[in-house]
Amino acid sequence: MNKLEILAQKIKEAHVGGGEKRIESQHKKGKLTARERLQILLDEGSFEEIGMLVTHRSTDFGMENEQYLGDGVVTGYGTIHGRLVYVFSQDFTVFGGSLSETHAKKICKIMDLAMENGAPVIGLNDSGGARIQEGVVSLGGYADIFYRNTRASGVIPQLSAIMGPCAGGAVYSPAITDYIFMVEHSSYMFVTGPNVVKTVTHEEVSSEELGGAHTHASKSGVTHFACENEVACIMQIKQLLTYIPQNCEDEAPIYPYEQGDESRVKLNTMIPENPNTPYDMKEVIAEICDEDTFMEVHKDYAENIVVGFALLGGRSIGIVANQPAAMAGVLDNNSSKKGARFVRFCDAFNIPLLVLVDVPGFLPGTDQEWNGIITNGAKLLYAFSEATVPKVTVITRKAYGGAYDVMNSKHIGADLNFAFPNAEIAVMGAKGAVEIIFKKEIESAENPQTKLDEKVAEYAEKFANPYGAAAHGFIDEVIEPAKTRMKLIKGFVMLQNKVCDMPKKKHGNIPM
Ligand code: HXC
Repeated sequence: MNKLEILAQKIKEAHVGGGEKRIESQHKKGKLTARERLQILLDEGSFEEIGMLVTHRSTDFGMENEQYLGDGVVTGYGTIHGRLVYVFSQDFTVFGGSLSETHAKKICKIMDLAMENGAPVIGLNDSGGARIQEGVVSLGGYADIFYRNTRASGVIPQLSAIMGPCAGGAVYSPAITDYIFMVEHSSYMFVTGPNVVKTVTHEEVSSEELGGAHTHASKSGVTHFACENEVACIMQIKQLLTYIPQNCEDEAPIYPYEQGDESRVKLNTMIPENPNTPYDMKEVIAEICDEDTFMEVHKDYAENIVVGFALLGGRSIGIVANQPAAMAGVLDNNSSKKGARFVRFCDAFNIPLLVLVDVPGFLPGTDQEWNGIITNGAKLLYAFSEATVPKVTVITRKAYGGAYDVMNSKHIGADLNFAFPNAEIAVMGAKGAVEIIFKKEIESAENPQTKLDEKVAEYAEKFANPYGAAAHGFIDEVIEPAKTRMKLIKGFVMLQNKVCDMPKKKHGNIPM
């Protein structure tokens, strides 16, 4: 063989990973190979591989006789919608995609390049965890990745897709990244698998139930997206990237947009007058944003708050909205954590925030208190307060109590605060309020119910409106709902050059 033939032979060898038989077995499980996944993820012909010829260095257990070019992970760079990204894609056909010392070094190399060049890293995970034959060097390899994940956090976007097993410490790299995507029925994540669980806690649980996509999307909130299949998963990653910039010094994407009639009369009738009647905030979001641009994040977790990305007049924004259709939109432990994490992502990557408020307050109860609603609620408060991106609030109906303060009020640094005419900005709902302040008067009345109704009407008249807050300048403008979109488009353009620095510090100490 001449030199070119030797090279071609090596490339061919690397491309088959652990061999045709194992590729077949991967396909039989309904899974794509590492390279097939990258082909769908990246723009055609854009992939440039780095480290194709790397092999492991292990000599224990006869490992020196089992070598695969690339060592179980395909790494490199390419483009998505023309924008540079760095990628690694674990190859389950090579030692189950397990992480060896050299496998980890390959991942670290592209993470270092991504940091130096300011572009997102996308990891496609499909791995049996630490390469068991290698022992501590494999554990060290994981820690090298965790360290880089942490240093890269808030500097470049990091996205993780889980497309197979992800167990043990291996889950912690995805957990540090910004967004996790899981594939239903073929991926799972857990610190210890069902067998260990059975031994330690005597619980019988399947892998799927313990750490499948549905579990982590709805119960634990570990994953942000549960995707029907691998292709859908990759498509969602590509879509998410359209809303986020390349790095923390880059601006959020702005797409060409031609202004038209921005009034949305439907909004005038979408919010029920009765503060206790639910409605779907996602319909309000759809009406406000550019058509079909809302991408919801964490859809199945803490549904009482809605978060996601959208375009508004062609500009990428992050939306945080109470959801009156789920638990009346109350703030609780999970919704506070979900909201806070999203706000911090948007702030880290210069994505302006739109906050839609219809919130009756914080959820009372022992479950909430014992699980730390004080600390968790404070996370959301802290996240909004520290965010320096343009922040705009629209109160669509209720804004009661502490939740009024927390939901991006003027007092914690919001730039523009709007309210609909039927908004109620008060310490609490009218009924709850009069039951406390007029308790004796109502009890001693000839007809307590009539007295209660009378007092409720009196209180509502005085406080259940946006005008008290507007008189104090806490609300900048009470707007006709139909004009919301137009007001927001103008508002975000007005705020596009906002400069707001935090006081000099090493970093804050968010309530954890
Ligand atoms: C080396 C591994 C491996 C591993 C799988 N393989 N896991 N080789 N190290 N961790 C190899 C198998 O020997 C097999 O090789 C091939 O990959 C496919 O594995 P199968 O078991 O045949 O596949 P499947 O039935 O689909 O099961 C996949 C699996 C299972 C669920 C991942 O292999 C498994 O449980 N693996 C061990 C998982 C584990 O305990 N990892 C360590 C976690 S602790 P052949 O040659 O037959 O193709 C950890 C610590 C990290 O990760 C700490 C960081 C802080």
